Amino acid sequence: MIGRNSPCWCHSGLKYKNCHEVFDQRIEEFRRRGYKVPGHELIKTPEQIKGCKEAAEINMACLDYVGEHIGAGISTQDIDDWVSRITKEMGGIPATLGYEGFPKSVCTSINSQVCHGIPSEEDILEDGDIINVDCTTIFNGYYADSSRMFMIGDVSPEARKLVEDVHEAVNVGLRAIKPWKTLGDMGAAVNEFCMSKGYSVVREIGGHGVGIDFHEEPWVSYVTKPDTEMVMAPGLMFTVEPMVNMGKADIFIDAENDWTVYTDDDSLSAQWEVQIVVTEDGYEPISW
Ligand code: MF3
Ligand code: CO
Ligand code: CO
Repeated sequence: MIGRNSPCWCHSGLKYKNCHEVFDQRIEEFRRRGYKVPGHELIKTPEQIKGCKEAAEINMACLDYVGEHIGAGISTQDIDDWVSRITKEMGGIPATLGYEGFPKSVCTSINSQVCHGIPSEEDILEDGDIINVDCTTIFNGYYADSSRMFMIGDVSPEARKLVEDVHEAVNVGLRAIKPWKTLGDMGAAVNEFCMSKGYSVVREIGGHGVGIDFHEEPWVSYVTKPDTEMVMAPGLMFTVEPMVNMGKADIFIDAENDWTVYTDDDSLSAQWEVQIVVTEDGYEPISW
């Protein structure tokens, strides 16, 4: 038990009674009613949020550069080289390099690849391809994680629509982020939108808490029911990153590299990833 006149656990320097006491009471009330609630270690301080935003500047600079230079004839290794160079020039560290054995500085997932594509000199982008570039940056110990889709040359109307619809699906999810609502509300909004467009959302892989580690609690699903999963308390930081397939939701993992995820039915898949922190009146974007 913290004394009401003791310094708050969030290191604001304020007395507990003037800082997070009401917050903790609210958390306890949700816990009592059976909800999953975040521990204090998941609630980001202003200093941590500032650190993540600094990491995000590098993260977004990498993705901006990719957007300006990607095109037919570029290899996914070229993208890896760009991300590696820019990240280091700006004082950061590519988080994926060596992460659980992942061999490259960025994930590049083309067409029916759902996620965790490994950059290679052999994979040359062609006219009509769609590709997700997922970049994660460490700066000063803080993490930024976001990804974007890119369309190479003349893509089919269906592929373009998928890419645009999944971007909108993320916006639908973002609009459902409200303090003291649940992650299940957000995931349900994403899933409902994607289903209404005739797509399916990947079930096995989702988003995650992030900030002082690459993958923190909670795990974030986008096929949830409303009023389930963790309560979105102010200060909770996580990603909205649904993977959406044009065909069925089923996926498999490349047996040779044990990383790259594909759609089972070879249909196209798209994903955008945005990192946010929950605020008192909604959310604040950190990296996108
Ligand atoms: N950036 C991915 C995410 O959004 C994780 C990639 S892990 C890796 O969570 F090992 F494949 F790089
Ligand atoms: Co990512
Ligand atoms: Co992520």
